[in-house]
Amino acid sequence: VSAAPQDSPDVVVIGAGVIGLSIAWRAAQRGLRVLALDRGEPGGGTSRVAAGMLAPVAEATFGEQRLVEMKVRSAALWPVFAAELEAASGTSPGYLPVGTLYVGRDRDAAEALAREADFRRSLGLEIESLLPGEARRREPALAPSLRAALHLPTDHAVDPVALCAALAGAARDAGAELRSHTEVAELLVASGRVAGVRLAGGARIASPRVVVAAGAWAGELAGIPAEARVPVRPVKGQVLRLRDPAGPGLLTSVLRSEDVYVVPRGDGRYVLGASVEEKGFDTSISALATYELLRDAAEVLPGILELEIEAALAGLRPATPDNLPVIGPSAALEGLFNATGHYRNGVLLAPLTAEALAADLTSATNGVGHLSLQADPVEAR
Ligand code: GLY
Repeated sequence: VSAAPQDSPDVVVIGAGVIGLSIAWRAAQRGLRVLALDRGEPGGGTSRVAAGMLAPVAEATFGEQRLVEMKVRSAALWPVFAAELEAASGTSPGYLPVGTLYVGRDRDAAEALAREADFRRSLGLEIESLLPGEARRREPALAPSLRAALHLPTDHAVDPVALCAALAGAARDAGAELRSHTEVAELLVASGRVAGVRLAGGARIASPRVVVAAGAWAGELAGIPAEARVPVRPVKGQVLRLRDPAGPGLLTSVLRSEDVYVVPRGDGRYVLGASVEEKGFDTSISALATYELLRDAAEVLPGILELEIEAALAGLRPATPDNLPVIGPSAALEGLFNATGHYRNGVLLAPLTAEALAADLTSATNGVGHLSLQADPVEAR
């Protein structure tokens, strides 16, 4: 039996959201002694607010081909990731391979949708154009006034709350230690390389490798030298958790319009999202965002107004200047690994991020150099 991770972890992971937990699981599976720290509960921060869209096609953005490639690669990993996780943890991560309908509610939106479809087809992404009547045959609750629809057969969904619970279980079973309510005050650097972390209570944990998976807070962590700091900022997103007292059936696929998305959980629960707001670390719930979400959703799915509101939540997406995540060993500080900046795609990119980081960490442990998903990390550009 190897020593408990807390005695001498091979790697400390800061942040036990969907990214940190996925890395902790994959790294522990490879035999590393992993200690993952979260200042709240595992999965209790931004991951808890995420709707869980696995949307490489719906969220493809012009000028971001490299990011689209990453999303497509990670989407392809999802079925096996989910199945392996369920087997390892004994709990379902709530993976729903249901496809997405992207709808346009008026003539302008239909024209915009046609352009969006052309762009995605030019990237080789799978898209099916549907007549509005065909979309309504698939999803009878859609508004009769819709003008256009696309079916995105490869864009699915997962329940991030169930996902994080499964990841925490699998990570622990694989030997990782997860410590809740443990805030890192500072990264420790000695002799020009990572030496560990100092906790808010003053305790020090020595470790030769630290993974910063702190999402929107990654840029705030003390102790990181300026040249190794990743430029991450919070972009607020407000969502509503809704529940149909009549049970499942209102909507089977993920639904998306220009303005909003509705993600079904398959059991009568839905997440409606999301605002996109540059408001720093503010997570207040505003009447305006709540109103706009419901107004825009009701235009494409009128029955949404029959649902009960279970919760209104706000999360902070970790955004970088070029919207690309920063994944891999820091070019500026030995022993520092980044896994942040996932912006709108953290849940989708979790499998790819975790596999890349676990490979990087294992290579670093073996002293045989680094593999990195990102050939030129953001800080080096
Ligand atoms: N990917 C959905 C969002 O960030 O709102």
